[in-house]
Amino acid sequence: MKGLWLFLHVIGFSAWLGGGLAVMLSGITAKYFPAEQRLAVYRVMSVVTRNLIGTGAVLVVVSGFVLSVPYFKSATAPSWLMAMQGLGLLGAIVAIGIVTPTAARLGRLELDPRGELPEGFGGLRKRQAIFATVAGVFALLALLSGTVFR
Ligand code: HEM
Repeated sequence: MKGLWLFLHVIGFSAWLGGGLAVMLSGITAKYFPAEQRLAVYRVMSVVTRNLIGTGAVLVVVSGFVLSVPYFKSATAPSWLMAMQGLGLLGAIVAIGIVTPTAARLGRLELDPRGELPEGFGGLRKRQAIFATVAGVFALLALLSGTVFR
């Protein structure tokens, strides 16, 4: 049974990190597109963020919690495991609480009457760039804890 939860755990962080890298490259590439095409790219990024990053982060936390149950009974857990749990949980809170809703808002934006990017775009894009990076760095550090430092 542990194997199945570990499988879901690995699927979860693959989707989260893979989706994160995909939307990062998409956002950078779309910078040079005309406004209408740029918003269309953000609509696709919104779907990828909600389905891969958001769902992946939920899967990581749920499977990580189930995998942690045997450790609740013992007094101590290895430090690499505690680091993974802490970093992974923080990253997931940012990914689910900030990154996913911001992506949904960016995906709903329409061109303003002049055919340019709407007023709210710049602020939302900046917020997304910062918090998606924060969540991704936490996820990468959790992955380092569970691999290199275990
Ligand atoms: C993005 C975040 C995370 C990443 C990249 C990650 C990565 C990994 C990896 C690579 C393993 C396999 C380690 C091994 O057994 O060789 C693993 C196992 C495990 N993870 Fe995570 N993890 C993350 C978040 C979490 C969270 C949030 C929790 C708990 C709430 C958690 C709990 C566990 C547990 C209990 C195991 C099994 C340890 C064992 O008994 O061998 N992980 N994780």
